[in-house]
Amino acid sequence: MNNNNKGKKNKSKGQGKERRAQLKAEKAKDAAARLLVKQANEIADPLAKFPTFTKFERNGLNCKLDCKRVNDLDPELLEWAITLCQINMQPLYEKSQRGWRANEKREEMTEEEAWYLVAYDVNLDKPIGFSHFRFDMDYGDEVLYCYELQLEPEYRGKGLGRFILQVLELMAFSNQMLKVVLTVFKHNPRGMSFFQKCRYEIDETSPEDDDIDDPVDYRILSKLNKMKPTQKTSL
Ligand SMILES: CC(C)(COP(=O)(O)OP(=O)(O)OC[C@H]1O[C@@H](n2cnc3c(N)ncnc32)[C@H](O)[C@@H]1OP(=O)(O)O)[C@@H](O)C(=O)NCCC(=O)NCCS
Repeated sequence: MNNNNKGKKNKSKGQGKERRAQLKAEKAKDAAARLLVKQANEIADPLAKFPTFTKFERNGLNCKLDCKRVNDLDPELLEWAITLCQINMQPLYEKSQRGWRANEKREEMTEEEAWYLVAYDVNLDKPIGFSHFRFDMDYGDEVLYCYELQLEPEYRGKGLGRFILQVLELMAFSNQMLKVVLTVFKHNPRGMSFFQKCRYEIDETSPEDDDIDDPVDYRILSKLNKMKPTQKTSL
């Protein structure tokens, strides 16, 4: 063996060590993120710590909010949420490549990982809006994923949507999630401008617009937890 080969071997030994250390750090990051998600999902009521955020009394609305796992929801309330989602979203899904698939949506909305934040009109004693969300792993990160944000038409434009999003952010960031993530159709300009007004930005995981092999009709938006460092390991 000549000196040159020895040099190469030492170099690759060093690189191996570096790679092992990197893999170890990635594994530790993944385990820590999964633990945070597990802990958040074990909380009985993530809204309980924030009693002032259970009321929304502005712009003529008198609302209360509560937060439950799907399995603790009244079945009638769940049916109302599924119907409202269909009324609001079916036309948008029908404009997309995937079309409206009622059974798939029902399945998604009833999976046991689903959480519901529901707003009620206190005067009329009826539900008026909801968010289906989850504490979950997304591309290796701990996130609160907002699957749905839906209001009855007559309760829109009064600040309630923004308030529900803020409550989601509060529950996400107080449980050390890295970000709140959501998906919005490109052909839902109202939804898009609402989320932009609420300071959501295109997420790094959102598919590129110019990918002709995989054209998509949605964008992934997110808001980062400013209290968390964002350096990523390459997963
Ligand atoms: C999107 C939705 C949740 C917004 O809730 P909302 O209570 O109507 O919105 P808010 O009143 O809190 O508005 C917050 C900001 O967004 C803006 N905004 C709300 N709706 C908007 C619209 N249709 N077009 C443009 N901007 C809009 C508001 O002007 C406000 O900005 P401002 O504070 O600078 O005035 C609600 O309209 C809805 O349920 N829509 C149907 C379902 C849907 O599209 N869901 C989102 C996609 S998953």
